[in-house]
Amino acid sequence: MNTDLLRVAVMASGSGTNLQSILDRCAAGSLPARVVVVISNNRNATALERARKAGVDAVHWSEKKAGSPEAFAEGLLDILKQAGADLVVLAGYMKLVPPQVVAAYRGRMLNIHPALLPKHGGQGFYGMRVHEAVVAAGDTESGATVHFVDAEYDRGPTFLQRTVPVLPGDTPESLQTRVLAVEHELLPDAIAKFASEYKRGANAPVEMKTPK
Ligand code: GRF
Repeated sequence: MNTDLLRVAVMASGSGTNLQSILDRCAAGSLPARVVVVISNNRNATALERARKAGVDAVHWSEKKAGSPEAFAEGLLDILKQAGADLVVLAGYMKLVPPQVVAAYRGRMLNIHPALLPKHGGQGFYGMRVHEAVVAAGDTESGATVHFVDAEYDRGPTFLQRTVPVLPGDTPESLQTRVLAVEHELLPDAIAKFASEYKRGANAPVEMKTPK
């Protein structure tokens, strides 16, 4: 086993096409990373299915299963620590991550959002609602953003961002399709960038900086 590979934990609630893009890039050998665990709050998430198919540990863990917010946070920390995760990637994870877990992985937790943050982000902006907001605003550009996670929804510093033009006649659905295709490139690219900057065992995590 190549111990130089970045150990990535992925958290996902739904279909997990972004997770799949990471698994595919790892399998192709074009990402210096390995997905060590996939965690979902939803026992029926296709993301868990995709993990199992790839031979990756698939864990269903939720506040309901844990019984309390505290037990959920402690259990989540245990799962991440046991997996030896260097980086936690939220790929369509629909719940707020407990603050103690965000704090433990400060500078080592990334989220992907299907718009050009800081626009069209925050609580209530998820799924098709994001693309509806972009079309309703008459924006000529949208895109995808990978950003560090901090205590608030969609508010941490941007790590990598790519634009997608909004075309005349675009519907939220057509825009979503093109943005998602870009997400599938951007998220593995962000992991590659993180891997190139991350020093395992160093005292400080990668600084939560906005790239120039
Ligand atoms: C993506 O659009 C992502 O940006 C957002 O949730 C969606 C997840 O899609 N956070 P999938 O489950 O990866 O297909």
